Amino acid sequence: MNRAKHIAIIMDGNGRWAELQDKKRVKGHEEGAKVVKNITTYCSNNPDIERLTLYAFSTENWKRPRLEVEFLMKLLQRYLKNELPVYLKNNVRFEPIGDIRAFSKSLQKTINEVKEKTAHCDGLVQSLALNYGAQDEIVRAINKLKNDEDSITEAMLSNALDAKHSVDLLIRTGGDHRLSNFLLWQVAYAELFFVDTLWPDFSTQDLEKIIKKFTKIERRFGGLK
Ligand code: IPE
Ligand code: IPE
Ligand code: MG
Repeated sequence: MNRAKHIAIIMDGNGRWAELQDKKRVKGHEEGAKVVKNITTYCSNNPDIERLTLYAFSTENWKRPRLEVEFLMKLLQRYLKNELPVYLKNNVRFEPIGDIRAFSKSLQKTINEVKEKTAHCDGLVQSLALNYGAQDEIVRAINKLKNDEDSITEAMLSNALDAKHSVDLLIRTGGDHRLSNFLLWQVAYAELFFVDTLWPDFSTQDLEKIIKKFTKIERRFGGLK
């Protein structure tokens, strides 16, 4: 049976969830943050799962209206401050990925604080992808390596990325079948699950069902059974 050691999720559908109930889009983000908390706690209690990587804000999401972007920044700040004791209680290490230099100094400080204060936790590793784009990540990695005299190997590039571990199971909620610039290198052999459920409605039971299906897939990695 496969183990879903590294699960990555494209948490999509917050805005539509809110609009369906005649609420403002930002209400959907608020509700979505509660689901992040539930899913993280569930994963921290599942010994098979070592890493959970969640797409929270993409390099393309800056194109959204200013007020929505500002709301997301404030929500992230609030979320991290409130969650620090929860991370510690559940032995979760917070390892953000993405280029956070684009964020305000105060938000960068909060992100770094939570990262440092949970650095000793050795249960689940939760990575939030923040101002993350896989193409940007790959370019930054190549720039780190370009002065190296040796030619670049797969292992060297993999190590220079923000997210250094391959994904076993990738889930996208919200009904679309695309990757939207998420972990393009790391999903090379991931099993992909696209579900119609909007992220604020996604439950631990939904995750359990997907994991159950995942465990039964025959993963060949190009070889033969
Ligand atoms: C995902 O939900 C959250 C972020 C991208 C920040 P969306 O905000 O994309 O919700 P939809 O896809 O418009 O419903
Ligand atoms: C992907 O969702 C980004 C996050 C979930 C953070 P988007 O809603 O931004 O993706 P597109 O625009 O539908 O591809
Ligand atoms: Mg979306």
